Amino acid sequence: MSVLSIADVWKEYGEHVVLEGISLEIAERSFVALVGPSGCGKSTFLKMLLSEERPSRGSILLDGAPLAAEPEAGRGVVFQRYSVFPHLTALGNVMLGLEIGASRFWGKLWGARRRAAAEEARALLEAVGLAEATDKYPAQLSGGMQQRLALAQALATKPRVLLLDEPFGALDPGIRAEIHQLMKRLWHERPLTVVMVTHDMSEAFTLATRVIAFERRRNEPSDGGRYGATITQDIPVWPPRVAGQVTGLFESPGRDDPAPVAGTSRDDLALQGVRA
Ligand SMILES: Nc1ncnc2c1ncn2[C@@H]1O[C@H](COP(=O)(O)OP(=O)(O)O)[C@@H](O)[C@H]1O
Ligand SMILES: [Mg+2]
Repeated sequence: MSVLSIADVWKEYGEHVVLEGISLEIAERSFVALVGPSGCGKSTFLKMLLSEERPSRGSILLDGAPLAAEPEAGRGVVFQRYSVFPHLTALGNVMLGLEIGASRFWGKLWGARRRAAAEEARALLEAVGLAEATDKYPAQLSGGMQQRLALAQALATKPRVLLLDEPFGALDPGIRAEIHQLMKRLWHERPLTVVMVTHDMSEAFTLATRVIAFERRRNEPSDGGRYGATITQDIPVWPPRVAGQVTGLFESPGRDDPAPVAGTSRDDLALQGVRA
């Protein structure tokens, strides 16, 4: 059963066709990596899945029903940078995610519900390896820790679909390998379907169950933007990964992962929680 059904979606800005004829069925609990050259419309596509943008033509169904007109709690999102609020602590950022999930008016929680939310937020911070950083502000966290926090905040709304736009692209290779392990664990343990944009092919094959490439098939200067990008490759990752089926603590580390990191920690105290 598809979580997302995308049928002949086009996106145009004025005369400029960004995407054309995108049709895609995304299975429940899959992890789709979306790759393609810069400017080919990957972020635009994610924004349509989030309802931040609307298709010019075509339809997008979530669980068989048209997408809600506004972004909503069922679709969590993490961008490459700046998706956490700098003036809130780590706990405050995750609490905000919970409040957004709990109230359609984005209202604050009070009393017993607020205490329960704080407990849940602490558990989420622990799940992403940030138990030690509960009261820190984003500026006091390393890049890797900020992205862990952004993941915790997005997971707070219990999204069925997690949308990731180059979430690990700005991280150093060692830190990125660690956060890949975390990402795999979260996907295995939680009822998530993931759509992740990346320009790193090895990241795509490290994490995904399926790799999709967007590209402009016709791209002559004389085309003047009349043709958009479309799906040019759709590759099932082999051997298949199945959500929830882990060999050992993590899925066969080393099979296709970046080389293991020498030593531990570096600037990322988050590690402790992940390896434990
Ligand atoms: N709001 C907008 N108005 C006009 N053009 C846009 C808008 N958003 C994106 N574009 C154009 O759409 C194209 C695809 O952008 P984007 O989705 O950000 O690409 P990618 O994420 O693959 O690098 C670019 O040419 C960009 O200039
Ligand atoms: Mg982009």
